[in-house]
Amino acid sequence: MSFAWQAYCAARTLTPEKEPAYFAHVQDLLATKELQSLNEIPHHIPTTLLTHVSCVSFVAWRLTQKLGGDARVAARGGLLHDLYYYDWHDFSDDTHRWHGVLHPSRALKNATALLGELDQRTANAIVRHMFPFTPIPPKYRESILVSVADKICSYYDVMLARFASYRARFARDTGIAYDQL
Ligand SMILES: [Fe+2]
Ligand SMILES: [Fe+2]
Repeated sequence: MSFAWQAYCAARTLTPEKEPAYFAHVQDLLATKELQSLNEIPHHIPTTLLTHVSCVSFVAWRLTQKLGGDARVAARGGLLHDLYYYDWHDFSDDTHRWHGVLHPSRALKNATALLGELDQRTANAIVRHMFPFTPIPPKYRESILVSVADKICSYYDVMLARFASYRARFARDTGIAYDQL
């Protein structure tokens, strides 16, 4: 099993009992109404934005265990990287135009409103996570790992939604049917 797949499967079947060291970094953030509101927002169908940011957060945290870096910054940066409060599939008004390019800076603005001024590494993880879709690369190890975790989670989200073979593999490797998540 590849590291990326293993981390993804663990992220999608996560509980505080299974990974207390990870939850110690993010519990306060997860409890905020701002983060919880992401549970109402669809992301890669059929996941919600909260599912997505939680996945990115956990996979980035796992990556720091393998590759080094500040585990707490990666975990929190992952959780905050897509902190925007709208459904980007909804084109009924103009406010979501240029979502792909603009949402990292919207997320940084929302994260700063929630937590006050952020440290440079967390801010960079949020604002540079869309590289190479946006041209400026992430600067720090933690921000690179959040960007990589975002690609890993997005890739498997789409594969699982599209292919029964991936869903069967997920059920086999986790012991949990994908449609019961
Ligand atoms: Fe994003
Ligand atoms: Fe994302």
